[in-house]
Amino acid sequence: MRTPLIAGNWKMHKTIAEAVALTDALAVGLADLPANRQVVICPTFTALASVAARPRAGIAIGAQNVYPEVQGAYTGEIAPGMLKEIGCTYVIIGHSERRQLFGETDAMVARKAAAVLDAGMTPIVCVGETRAERESGQAENIVLGQVKAGLSALSNRLSEIVIAYEPVWAIGTGLTATSADAQAMHAAIRGELRSVGGNQADTVRIQYGGSVKPDNVDELMAQPDIDGALVGGAALVAESFIRIAKFVK
Ligand code: 13P
Repeated sequence: MRTPLIAGNWKMHKTIAEAVALTDALAVGLADLPANRQVVICPTFTALASVAARPRAGIAIGAQNVYPEVQGAYTGEIAPGMLKEIGCTYVIIGHSERRQLFGETDAMVARKAAAVLDAGMTPIVCVGETRAERESGQAENIVLGQVKAGLSALSNRLSEIVIAYEPVWAIGTGLTATSADAQAMHAAIRGELRSVGGNQADTVRIQYGGSVKPDNVDELMAQPDIDGALVGGAALVAESFIRIAKFVK
């Protein structure tokens, strides 16, 4: 019912030439991808057009950020329509790095998600707790609060949204939530989605992110409420991202 989505978040890595080389390697390696899954890569803004111009064997393109206005005096920002024009079909929103380093609030996440939907693309809305929040027993409260604040204004459009649960303490650290802990949080998120948008909750894909690697992806993807992965470091190496996209369920 939910087609798994494997996403590569390249963050602030790769020159244009390197991004094109990685795209070409992925296109070869994923040419025989099973039909029951989807893959999206999210390069930097500067590499998007070059990556979009390559043959990609069905690999979709996404951006890592967006500004929620159609156009205007917003120096340094990029509008949803500009991303759509370049060939993006997904946009990552509310990544913990943006929340922590750039002050992105739940209110801004909600505006961005709406703007991305209005432009005809799919928002990947990131949520996740810090280590301190987990250690103090607040993880579920925090994460469900982010889901509610980010998505309640979009309660009739939930099925068009992807959520990425990324525990902040697992990002780039080599620490992964156990598959059982991840599944428990994903089930709780789906419960919150049900209270926001009823049965649409069953159609929302919830990705796990945080040190997803070739050697842990199969176990994570075996969980009933884990519908994909948002991959950072391992998405920068063709061989490892290909293996992750070819997870065995
Ligand atoms: P890592 O896979 O490097 O832990 O990064 C996860 C992430 O932040 C993806 O958005």
